Amino acid sequence: MPTPRPLSLIAELTHRCPLRCPYCSNPVDLRRDELDTATWLRVIDQAAALGVVQLAFTGGEPLARHDLDDLVRAAAERELYTNLITSAFALDADRLARLRSAGLEHVQVSFQDADPARADLIAGRRAHERKLAAARAVKDAGLPLTVNVVLHRHNLDHIEEILGLVADLEPDRVEMANVQYEGWAVANHAALMPTAEQLKNAEAAVRRFRERIGPGMRVLWVASDLYEDVPQPCMGGWGRQTIVCAPDGAALPCLSASGLPGMEFPNVRDHSLEWIWERSEAFNRFRGTDWMREPCRSCPLGRQEEDYGGCRCQAARLTGDPYATDPVCGFSPHHQRAVDLRTVPPEEEQPAYVYRTLRSTTPS
Ligand code: SF4
Ligand code: FES
Repeated sequence: MPTPRPLSLIAELTHRCPLRCPYCSNPVDLRRDELDTATWLRVIDQAAALGVVQLAFTGGEPLARHDLDDLVRAAAERELYTNLITSAFALDADRLARLRSAGLEHVQVSFQDADPARADLIAGRRAHERKLAAARAVKDAGLPLTVNVVLHRHNLDHIEEILGLVADLEPDRVEMANVQYEGWAVANHAALMPTAEQLKNAEAAVRRFRERIGPGMRVLWVASDLYEDVPQPCMGGWGRQTIVCAPDGAALPCLSASGLPGMEFPNVRDHSLEWIWERSEAFNRFRGTDWMREPCRSCPLGRQEEDYGGCRCQAARLTGDPYATDPVCGFSPHHQRAVDLRTVPPEEEQPAYVYRTLRSTTPS
């Protein structure tokens, strides 16, 4: 089978970020090393030549990079669809106008909760009001807006209020995304894990909201993986759709792959994206289904090409073996390890957040 073309490049421009969210998907060992502008321009060129159609600028906080306008312009000139994924802490109307004239096509702004004090507690600093202003500026600039809310035990019960905030902002798209336990969220698992009842109620509220608001706003509910009995195809399958480029140039098949044991990832400083995608051992190791072991190899549901055995990072974290079936799957001999993670500690034992730190940097 020929290697599929990658659809998207996720450009993690920096791990610097003004916020300290405890569910951040960045690795706990945040990188200070960053690619220079010339290398990013080369990567963008190579991505377009490889057939990539969308480029997400993310981080950390991509606005912390002063060359962001140049990178957006380069991507737009190569007809890549550009999406800025931002905390919006430092996004004002002027910065937005510059990015828009450089060719930016979409902005995704994250919110932590509807109430400012509760939202700021999760973000680790006062940020909510600035985010609101930024989201409104995106609308005023006529750019498509996605509102993203990461959901967990401390905000799921405020879902109606959060959906009220969403309705006021009138985004084109909404992602109500339950925490995926990677990066800092693993360190905060006991602080973030919701109950099954919270999830059930919140999902029903999102369903009602979707019906009420109508087709003009696309409302996604991203389920909590740990409450499923069959896994999702993480990243749409290893090496099938996406290349993640970390701030230091490491090319990864998913946001968390740098933590996988026994793997070395190629760097865009040393190799072309084409070589990385087609020929690197890292991108080929879990591509397709040939690498699978039991029970995936003879899956009773025949889901090999639907979920690709689930998440390699979760499999490695819960079993020590990146080749194992994702323990979220009910057929995994380690399924109980995933079920055990659903346990919510009693009130008096609930831990405080471990806030993300690099040395928080405020973008100018
Ligand atoms: Fe998916 Fe493997 Fe479970 Fe089958 S056994 S549902 S392929 S994870
Ligand atoms: Fe790495 Fe799922 S997060 S494969």
